[in-house]
Amino acid sequence: MEQRKKISVSELASMKGRDKIAVLTAYDYCTAQIADKAGTDVLLVGDSAAMVVLGYPNTVAIGMDEMLMFCGAVARGAKRPLIVGDMPFGSYQPSISMAIENAGRFIRSGCDCVKLEGGLEIADKIKAIVDAGIPVMGHIGLKPQTAALWEGYKLQGRTAESAARLLEDAWALEKAGAFSIVLEMVASEVAEHVSKKIAIPTIGIGSGAGCDGQVLVLHDMLGIYENIKPKFVKRYSDLSKSIFEAISAYCQEVKSSRFPEEHNTFHMSPEELEKFRKRI
Ligand code: KIV
Repeated sequence: MEQRKKISVSELASMKGRDKIAVLTAYDYCTAQIADKAGTDVLLVGDSAAMVVLGYPNTVAIGMDEMLMFCGAVARGAKRPLIVGDMPFGSYQPSISMAIENAGRFIRSGCDCVKLEGGLEIADKIKAIVDAGIPVMGHIGLKPQTAALWEGYKLQGRTAESAARLLEDAWALEKAGAFSIVLEMVASEVAEHVSKKIAIPTIGIGSGAGCDGQVLVLHDMLGIYENIKPKFVKRYSDLSKSIFEAISAYCQEVKSSRFPEEHNTFHMSPEELEKFRKRI
């Protein structure tokens, strides 16, 4: 049987320039198992769970307890992929000690490392978490937690000034000890340049092919939401249609007594049935 060894942070870092890194979000035991079997290198338990699983309008609504529940489920389902816990809004901003404490809770829930959104402004927190022994993935470019509160979801690195700031942020995170950085919705020229200028792998989402790896939100790539299709997403399936068709067929078959059939049915032994009849 194929040996499926757990991917470590250092192994992931060594994939830069050698193998592209396939990352997906995951939030539950079942899809984590499937994503593992299908060869995903990294599973990110993203705070996107707030939107795609819990139905909130943005990611700021989700808290530590909800995130940890998803992390535990993913960690129980996936054996080989590196599991990244996404620190939710408010769990690392207030203080360095709170950032370390909450990062530790992600590790106790089964994650291998954590991800924080932010550049230079949170480099001190990233360094402190790394110094406490917990590997950190950075996340710059579009930062959905704060973008939701300020400028909205917009392409980053469109001007020379913002491109230069992104490079500064990437350097600051690398210096702080991050082992990898997510680049979200960054102009592809900038993402490619940043990827060449830092020694740690970049994981792009909406940032073009020049990154060292790619991440997509599982529900987006599976087509679970009929009406949500950002330009950077490729749909590999049309699950909303398949799920709808399956559930419609089930409802119709229940209502018309076509389900359950004989092969879905359990029976008592004829002797016991006879005894039961006599008794009633
Ligand atoms: O929460 C999430 O799913 C993410 C990815 C979009 C990178 O942070």
